Amino acid sequence: MPPMLIKSDKPITGVDPALVPFRTLTSGARMPAIGLGTFGSDHVSHDVVAEAVKYAASIGYRHFDCASVYGNEEQIGRTFKAMFHNGLRRDEVWITSKLWNDKHGENDVISSCEKSLSDLQADYLDLYLVHWPFPNHHPPGCDVSARFENAVPYIHENYMKTWRKMEELVDLGLVRHIGTSNMTVPKLKLVLRDARIQPAVNEMELHPHFQQPELFQFVVDNGIQPIGYCPLGSPGRPERDRTPEDTAPTEDPVIIEIARHHGVNPAAVCIKWAVQRGQTPIPFSVNHYRDNLECVTRDPLSAGEMQAIAKLDRNCRLIKGQVFLWKDGQTWEALWDVNGEITPP
Ligand SMILES: NC(=O)c1ccc[n+]([C@@H]2O[C@H](COP(=O)([O-])OP(=O)(O)OC[C@H]3O[C@@H](n4cnc5c(N)ncnc54)[C@H](OP(=O)(O)O)[C@@H]3O)[C@@H](O)[C@H]2O)c1
Repeated sequence: MPPMLIKSDKPITGVDPALVPFRTLTSGARMPAIGLGTFGSDHVSHDVVAEAVKYAASIGYRHFDCASVYGNEEQIGRTFKAMFHNGLRRDEVWITSKLWNDKHGENDVISSCEKSLSDLQADYLDLYLVHWPFPNHHPPGCDVSARFENAVPYIHENYMKTWRKMEELVDLGLVRHIGTSNMTVPKLKLVLRDARIQPAVNEMELHPHFQQPELFQFVVDNGIQPIGYCPLGSPGRPERDRTPEDTAPTEDPVIIEIARHHGVNPAAVCIKWAVQRGQTPIPFSVNHYRDNLECVTRDPLSAGEMQAIAKLDRNCRLIKGQVFLWKDGQTWEALWDVNGEITPP
């Protein structure tokens, strides 16, 4: 059933934002250790997502993961404007946006960020990410067979040209931090070698069935905060991101048993595990956002439960990214450097 617009304007009791854990970045900035995802997965309308942002802020969320490609920054911007008009200070909220793949060109990065700033009605972003390390893009709502006709592999020299512009955004004061997303260890090693401003975060898929232990450790060891997307296994993800072998962490019997023990739903266990492990989950929700925030403020998982969940990793990547492949006959693994080296062109 499609989610309903929330009609009530009654005050809603929520979570004291001071009780929500936070991460300290190498800059000293504090980022709330859970955020609200805002990708409607091609089926939740922009207005419904913006409405969820409004109510999520009213019950204590202070971190919002946005992106130009989600198509809803204008609607979310109207929500932000109202929030700030009603007394919330800009510096109390963490706003992330992302550079879409069709804007990697040196002349496009700054204007694309300015468009997000204008849509989001913000003077600056706390974090701006390069959404994918490829300039290959796809139309909204496409299926898994869609391919960009001028698709190319990862070209480090080009990525660094984009990154220099990202650095300029920091110099200009338009963004406070810059970061990467959907990267691999070999690609990040090159970026760390060549960047003037190091990535502050890396956004990556992370849930109990896809824990990415090597990449996770690499980013932590390099002072980069891991932000975990699809923390619940993205049950509402678009059709193009589904394959028969995918598994659902919220249906794992171990997660279900731990949830029963704590008297919460399995989603809460995935979120508690993420925060306690050290990543920042950004669950999307227009119906359950209150539970998702509350669960990180009380009743932590025990060391034994954390260990039991660590053993659930199935290396089950859900967002495989097939639409970004650059050559006929490739499989999605080519995007993820699974042999430990950047996949040759
Ligand atoms: N950097 C990237 O490339 C990238 C890629 C993918 C996603 N992301 C970001 O990560 C965010 C999260 O990923 P995602 O939306 O794909 O997946 P997700 O957060 O794992 O799952 C969201 C789904 O779970 C449901 N849900 C949320 N809380 C629940 C609860 N407590 N109980 C039961 N169901 C619950 C939501 O339904 P309801 O709305 O009904 O609550 C929604 O269908 C995105 O919104 C986006 O901001 C980034």
